[in-house]
Amino acid sequence: MRTTVGIIGAGPAGLLLARLLHRAGIDSVVLESRDRAYVEHRQRAGILEQGTVDVLRAAGAGERMDREGLRHDGIELRFDRRRHRVDFPALTGGRSVMVYAQTEVCKDLIALQLADGGPLLFEAEALAVEDATGDRPRVPFRHQGREDVLECDYVVGCDGFWGVARNAFPAAASRVFERSYPYAWLGILADVAPSHDELVYARHDRGFALLSMRSPSVSRLYLQVPAGTKAEEWSDDAVWAELERRFETDDDWTLERGPLTQKSVTPMRSFVHEPMRHGRLFLAGDAAHIVPPTGAKGLNLAVGDVVTFARALVHAQETGSPDLLDAYSATCLRRIWQAERFSYDMTTLLHSAPDATAFDARLQLARLERIASSRAAETDLAEAYTGFPLTGAG
Ligand code: FAD
Ligand code: DHB
Repeated sequence: MRTTVGIIGAGPAGLLLARLLHRAGIDSVVLESRDRAYVEHRQRAGILEQGTVDVLRAAGAGERMDREGLRHDGIELRFDRRRHRVDFPALTGGRSVMVYAQTEVCKDLIALQLADGGPLLFEAEALAVEDATGDRPRVPFRHQGREDVLECDYVVGCDGFWGVARNAFPAAASRVFERSYPYAWLGILADVAPSHDELVYARHDRGFALLSMRSPSVSRLYLQVPAGTKAEEWSDDAVWAELERRFETDDDWTLERGPLTQKSVTPMRSFVHEPMRHGRLFLAGDAAHIVPPTGAKGLNLAVGDVVTFARALVHAQETGSPDLLDAYSATCLRRIWQAERFSYDMTTLLHSAPDATAFDARLQLARLERIASSRAAETDLAEAYTGFPLTGAG
């Protein structure tokens, strides 16, 4: 099999890249190790930055998002039993975010790709990337029990944190920056209308809690739990009781309970692999970087990477100049490190570490107080949350 761009992985990064290339008249083949149902139902991110929304619309993938997605103009910070709303449009010159689940973004992109895009092979596992520094890199893969090879001009590893593409970088040419956290998120989906019309990020001495949503009738909630916790350790009642305590306020706000349809634990880590390019192999999305989920940057970073790659390749084909491809890694990393910083700040602002002292707790409250009382501090949060420019730093 032969193509211009071999794409490993059909998560948001790989699927959007295939769509962008198709719109630009560049052919690609997507290899995805899992089946379609798995990819379409894997419960993950839920918040799209303004720039991500704009890109999906421009790629012709925004129709259902515009019908069913929920535009959000702010978030609530909850601490010390108080509530503080951050008004995004007022602080950022009109920007907002969209609540539209990653599962739905993937469903929309898969439908478009299968209808009028290049090949998208499910249950096709890439085994390696070979000859990344040659003219024609190859991806051997196994599809429905048969082995084959995809020959490409370029390979883009969109195969997530556990993929194979990153392994093709020689150790001497790679640098990894990482940090782990002593806590994780227990996430639930519940068939109950969200108890607030915007997201609530709560800091509590017992730990962080987040109220989010998937639709007007489905709530998505997260609870900080110790790293290594198993979802089965928490009964449904215990989850609701703990959420209620962490969201407590001095007014009459209440948390509505409903039947749980899903319960799972997400570990938290920060990770960056530099550089993001080796010869004709490029990494995009979680294959190159991970952020802790506080602040909802993971999916949005993946979108920035593939937009940057698609633009660079179109530029190379139109002008013959490799300049933008050569700049790919540095361009992406500027934005990635801003998102790493923001995700780290939000995480340490809102979670309580097992070894946190009373001093640490007071500092968190002082940082929150500063955001609630200084327009400059609040604007900093609003700008980062609604998103830095897709192809550069903020
Ligand atoms: P992925 O979505 O991981 O896609 C990679 C794809 O590559 C997968 O479909 C995988 O099956 C495929 N693949 C892997 N290896 C191979 C191979 N060898 N051959 C072929 N295909 C392969 N972000 C948030 O903002 N908020 C959240 O609440 C949130 N929750 C998360 C929960 C979990 C459990 C995880 C893992 C991530 C979460 N994220 C969250 C992050 C966000 O979902 C990711 O940043 C986003 O999915 C990145 O997209 P991607 O396309 O780069 O990678
Ligand atoms: C969601 C996830 C996040 O990490 C976040 O900061 C906000 C919302 C969500 O899954 O809805």
